[in-house]
Amino acid sequence: MTSLDGWDPAQYNRFAAEREQPFWDLTQLLQPVERPKVVDLGCGDGRLTASLNDVVGSASMLGVDSSPAMIAAATSPAGDQIRFEVGDIGAWEHAESYDIVFANASMQWVPDHPGVLARWSRSLRRGGQLAVQVPANADHPSHLVAAELAQELLDEPPPDVVAQNVLAPERYAELLDELGFEEQHVRIQVYAHHLASTADVVEWVKGTTLTRFKGPLGTAEWQRFIDLYRERLLAVLGDRSPYLYPFKRILLWARRN
Ligand SMILES: C[S@@+](CC[C@H](N)C(=O)[O-])C[C@H]1O[C@@H](n2cnc3c(N)ncnc32)[C@H](O)[C@@H]1O
Repeated sequence: MTSLDGWDPAQYNRFAAEREQPFWDLTQLLQPVERPKVVDLGCGDGRLTASLNDVVGSASMLGVDSSPAMIAAATSPAGDQIRFEVGDIGAWEHAESYDIVFANASMQWVPDHPGVLARWSRSLRRGGQLAVQVPANADHPSHLVAAELAQELLDEPPPDVVAQNVLAPERYAELLDELGFEEQHVRIQVYAHHLASTADVVEWVKGTTLTRFKGPLGTAEWQRFIDLYRERLLAVLGDRSPYLYPFKRILLWARRN
């Protein structure tokens, strides 16, 4: 299923195991809390929302995502105890309402992280925890080659908003401090993904960064774009089997008093 908003749950889940590791690492940062009220911002198809629910033993769990396709995929397998709704996580704020505000691989899609983190931190109750993970891989050829090709094929190529939105890890540490969090943990981690071949990188980014070109290109041009992209990327990275895709991510956690 491919949605009008460009997200395709099936394509996204092709690398579910690789994408899952940072989620589990992020949950490891959470401190135990009795029956917390939790929100999973940018919950996607809800599969990991259900896992988060199991890990923290929540009293209530809300998953929020702007993609109707993702929310439609979310409702069936997750059961009744977890609620899902369509919403914009960039504007999301519920004053002092949650024990855990969790956002795995979603905040990168929204701008103004100082403003977003301020709204999310105001949504925490006393003692509440913020846990966020964002990719920081925009300098890898998988992203650079896409931008270069789009520049050639499109009059107005859509920008790499993830590259624009994600800040340096030390900036997040400063922001958390400025927001008054007394405890924090911010780190950058390199995930070593062993893919079957270099060409699998194309399949990976088709579910994420390349989705922004789908609309502007149209169906026929999209296929041509993918073929050219594959050719160029393999020329840069080498056509190898297996291929190690190094992927940097920023994990941040903080707890308010
Ligand atoms: C990479 S997926 C991550 C999904 C899930 N958290 C996981 O770890 O598997 C990013 C999700 O963020 C959602 N998203 C992007 N921009 C958003 C926005 N402004 N408001 C809400 N959700 C958004 C997308 O629809 C997508 O489902």
